[in-house]
Amino acid sequence: MKCDLLIVSARQLLTAPPGDAPLLGPDLDRPLLLEDAAVACVDGRVAALGSSVEIARRYPEAEAAAVLDASGCLVAPGFVDAHTHLPFAGTREGEFESRARGERYEAIAAKGGGIRASARHLRECPEADLAHVVRGRLRALLAEGTTTVEAKSGYGLCLEEERKQLRALAAAAAGEAVEVIPTFLGAHEVPDELRDRRGEYVALLTEEMIPAIAAEKLARFCDVFCDRGVFTVEEARRILTSGSAHGLAPKLHADELADVGAAALAAEVRAASADHLLHANDDGLRAMAAAGVVAVLLPGTALTLGLPYARARTMVELGVPVALATDFNPGSTMCSSLPLMMTLAVTQMRLTPAEAWMAATANAAAAVGEGARLGRIAAGKQADLVVFDAGDYRHIPYHYGRDHVRAVVKRGRVAHQRNGPPKPC
Ligand code: NIG
Ligand code: FE
Repeated sequence: MKCDLLIVSARQLLTAPPGDAPLLGPDLDRPLLLEDAAVACVDGRVAALGSSVEIARRYPEAEAAAVLDASGCLVAPGFVDAHTHLPFAGTREGEFESRARGERYEAIAAKGGGIRASARHLRECPEADLAHVVRGRLRALLAEGTTTVEAKSGYGLCLEEERKQLRALAAAAAGEAVEVIPTFLGAHEVPDELRDRRGEYVALLTEEMIPAIAAEKLARFCDVFCDRGVFTVEEARRILTSGSAHGLAPKLHADELADVGAAALAAEVRAASADHLLHANDDGLRAMAAAGVVAVLLPGTALTLGLPYARARTMVELGVPVALATDFNPGSTMCSSLPLMMTLAVTQMRLTPAEAWMAATANAAAAVGEGARLGRIAAGKQADLVVFDAGDYRHIPYHYGRDHVRAVVKRGRVAHQRNGPPKPC
């Protein structure tokens, strides 16, 4: 049979077993591993995977439109980064230094820094310039092995500026290989001008901003920063209920700085995911497990801010679907590397390397409502995969701080390739 792309002779192929649902409990540590493997892609999807011999019988190399030689390499699903703040303008290295000198993230925010500083940077940045910056970030993500990225607004804090972020994101994504899943995060912070009239901002969000963003189809999800000093559980409930009523599925920044009961709220509103969860309590986690809410863990934030890491082992044991993401943003995580997040997950949160991989691929896809299409190399799924210069999947989180990506395939086409011999260890 003919195929559009044949990936042959992979030393190892790692993926979640076929299926659409996130992996839970012991299944998180039971990936599908093939040796000397091949993958055939047709019409942007995986047509078949298996041993090189078996695939060669059904899809001879001579009949393939293109062949990618993966000799000595690892083939794995493209990373799905399920939590980023990608369309940001400006950077905040001054705050990075202040924290090194002992100032806390919340104290910097209370003084008008943090998210409100990024809101001021955004106001100075025209939409076309922002789109240009985002385009560059999407290319960098692809080279790091990320094939799908969730990206939040949240530095606008008024309809025009939030809309500008989401439009720039859509414009940037239009010609790029990396697929973007947009989220409206107007409830990221209360803007400067409404600090003592926060109720007015919540009303603006629910009555004007959410309906307008939904009507323009600029976002798929609605997110709220539900935490100490930001939005309360009561406010978040109102905002997410309004989002749902307008077709934006709920997500939450939950219990990052303190346990405010946001994990339980995520279960109550049937959120697609609750993210951070550094301080989430066991009852909230149990409720999330019962409701099937994915926990998106962001170890880069704990690393940057010097916070305790999320209790990943407890979550796995309670049956919560666990995913990993970067939280790429100019304040708490200026990093877009999912391989580094896997290293932190293994060394700081005691996930096994296989669990970290499943969390950054199959379960991350579930966190953005795309478990049926993305996150696995399986017949019928979109052909998004990465070839790494490594013969063993454990090598990627183990050998950190180094780029191991050799080629990236998006929708069955080679979208990024590094030529030359494999890098020595
Ligand atoms: O996920 N926690 C809230 N929002 C971001 C930080 C945003 C910022 O500091 O600019 C986060 O860590
Ligand atoms: Fe975030």
